[in-house]
Amino acid sequence: MKRRIEFPRAEGLYSRQAHVALPTGTFEREIGRQGFFGPATHMYHRHPPTGWSQIEGPLQPRAFRASDLGAEETDQAPWEAPSLISNAHIDLRIWHTRSACDRLYRNADGDLLLFVHEGALDFFCDFGHLPLREGDYLLIPRSTSWRVAPHEPATLLAIEATESSFGLPDRGMLGEHALFDPAILETPKIDESFRAQQDDRSWTIVVKARSALSSLTYPFNPLDAVGWKGNLAPVRVNWRDIRPVASDRYHVPPSAHTTFLCDRFVVCTFCPRRIENDPEALKVPFFHSNDDYDELIFYHRGQFFSRDGIAPGAVTLHPRGLTHGPHPKALAQSQRQPRSETDEVAVMIDCRDAVVVSEAAAQVEVPGYAQSWSESA
Ligand SMILES: [Fe+2]
Repeated sequence: MKRRIEFPRAEGLYSRQAHVALPTGTFEREIGRQGFFGPATHMYHRHPPTGWSQIEGPLQPRAFRASDLGAEETDQAPWEAPSLISNAHIDLRIWHTRSACDRLYRNADGDLLLFVHEGALDFFCDFGHLPLREGDYLLIPRSTSWRVAPHEPATLLAIEATESSFGLPDRGMLGEHALFDPAILETPKIDESFRAQQDDRSWTIVVKARSALSSLTYPFNPLDAVGWKGNLAPVRVNWRDIRPVASDRYHVPPSAHTTFLCDRFVVCTFCPRRIENDPEALKVPFFHSNDDYDELIFYHRGQFFSRDGIAPGAVTLHPRGLTHGPHPKALAQSQRQPRSETDEVAVMIDCRDAVVVSEAAAQVEVPGYAQSWSESA
């Protein structure tokens, strides 16, 4: 597709190439629309744009020890766990499950994307059996009937695409097999484990529709398929299957790490990769004001190279209207003695509509996060 040629205007000191060779002593901030795809300007500031001395009012960067929420509980379905963050298009929960479901579940409110943070479990559904392990994404199409049987206590991130569905991003110039080949996607198998669970006892399916629960009871196990064919089924992909795009000479924006796309949000995966080695290239994420989106990040494992004091299982929220970017120590280290690679694994969810934080999430809020960019923090 041809793009219109545009001539950016510029004033004062600036870099002709974003994220590279910033004017000495400056901090670059990208002010952008439509995520990383719309009109944008790069500002070159004398001070870090996150260096506020005070921040008051409802708009705050926030962090939550999300996996601590309900850690002593066990829930059979993700929607039995408290909602953390939501709006009309997304519902984000942390789901702790320890024992095999004694009934089936079906979400009629939208597709459900699970990410296994800890544990291993078997997933049984209309389409067969899929074993799940740490680091797996499992995309469950709307109204699929399913249950899980954990082998060990499991903690999952559950993302509902309310009234919507997940798809894959267009790979554009990278081609169809970039990031992961579609052949990597695993679908459930009608295998020995699936056949073994086809008993004749009474089973109930709990259906969630418009957030209300109804139940259907059968005098047999409805997961009784002997076969299927088609292009609609749950799919599994592990972060280890994702081969991130990286550049030695340019810090690629988060959008290059998009894994799943929804109508009103995107899910990106930050995977281990080499860090830029060009002396002039930025080596941590650039400060940005992503003014059309609220950004959520779930930290899965590794050392988070742009944020201090964030542990695995945490969720951060960076709302529109505020600039976000690297913490001072991470930025200083990237300039002084840059690391050669990052081992972090994180799931970023960029939401086009403003999100609401639940009272449950506020119970596990990390105090002082909004001040954590101050040089003295
Ligand atoms: Fe961001």
